[in-house]
Amino acid sequence: MLKKQIDHDLLKRFEKGLDPRYPQKNTIPAKILGYGEMSTIFEIDQETQRGLAYKRMPIFHTQQEMDQYEQIYQEYNYLLNDEVGIHVPEFTSVRIAPEKGNLIIYNVQRKLPKESICNSLLHSLDQESMKSLMLAVLREFKKVWAFNKKSTGIEIGIDGQISNWAVKDYTSGKNLAGQNIELYYIDTSTPLYKKNGVEQLNPELFLRSAPSFLVWLVKWLFLEDVMTRYYDFHLVVVDLIANFYKEQRPGYIPLLIDTANTFFSREAKEFSVSPITLKEVRAYYREDAMIWRIYLAFRKVDRFIHNRILHKPYVYILPGKIKR
Ligand SMILES: Nc1ncnc2c1ncn2[C@@H]1O[C@H](COP(=O)(O)OP(=O)(O)O)[C@@H](O)[C@H]1O
Ligand SMILES: [Mg+2]
Repeated sequence: MLKKQIDHDLLKRFEKGLDPRYPQKNTIPAKILGYGEMSTIFEIDQETQRGLAYKRMPIFHTQQEMDQYEQIYQEYNYLLNDEVGIHVPEFTSVRIAPEKGNLIIYNVQRKLPKESICNSLLHSLDQESMKSLMLAVLREFKKVWAFNKKSTGIEIGIDGQISNWAVKDYTSGKNLAGQNIELYYIDTSTPLYKKNGVEQLNPELFLRSAPSFLVWLVKWLFLEDVMTRYYDFHLVVVDLIANFYKEQRPGYIPLLIDTANTFFSREAKEFSVSPITLKEVRAYYREDAMIWRIYLAFRKVDRFIHNRILHKPYVYILPGKIKR
């Protein structure tokens, strides 16, 4: 269905007219739906493209890299949706080969309503509704670790931050307190899973967006820390909770910790996850915020060097100031 809606030619023109520095100023207008730590998500402003969310990944050097990436992107979505039982939006992907610069894959997803994405939704929730939402997310995590416990040879990692979830069929003001909430997981473009202990994603791909003078630092932070944390039930929940500082909602944090710890000791007893403390969440947040702030600052330096000194194109779109 989604595939039929894609207009390859239009996308090619979109890419051609794109100035990564001013993504809104394209000759083919687009709306930015969101910025992640690593990517930008657009909706192209055209009747035929309505309802599609395009995630731009300008990181590929060869066809073979694209083949590999598309294959694991497909498989990760399949594993989550069909094997684990976490719903993902309908998806596909498109390749664009610009005249110069890296090859590009656009991951395409069915666009979900803005108000249903959990980081916008959480601002209007009372404590009781927030607790229900947290429980819903924790139950999704439990499915992942239940799958990982089975000996299929496959181990799945997940980036469970609140901005990566959406509430199914949500309309503004809908009461969530005490409800059984159904979720979508949207951030499937970093396919984290291992087969017989071997990471399927080539992390070097994601290092490409890092300035060359920083690769050593990112390798050290990203590979050692960021890649492994998503396979650890305790750390995934710490990450989720700590993120509420960034979302400007630290007031929920004690409730979230409490909900998680009760969940670990009852519903998820069999996974023996150690309880979370406020001190740990704070320390984690400080470190994480610093990593990303430094990372983004250096990417801006790198962009400056490319544009102004080397006079070479800088292919990545960087987010503006992120409040943390
Ligand atoms: N299918 C979608 N529909 C609507 N908004 C989306 C969709 N996918 C992503 N977004 C928006 O973009 C943000 C970042 O997307 P995400 O896939 O999490 O990227 P990243 O890997 O960079 O974190 C999301 O939090 C959401 O606000
Ligand atoms: Mg995300």
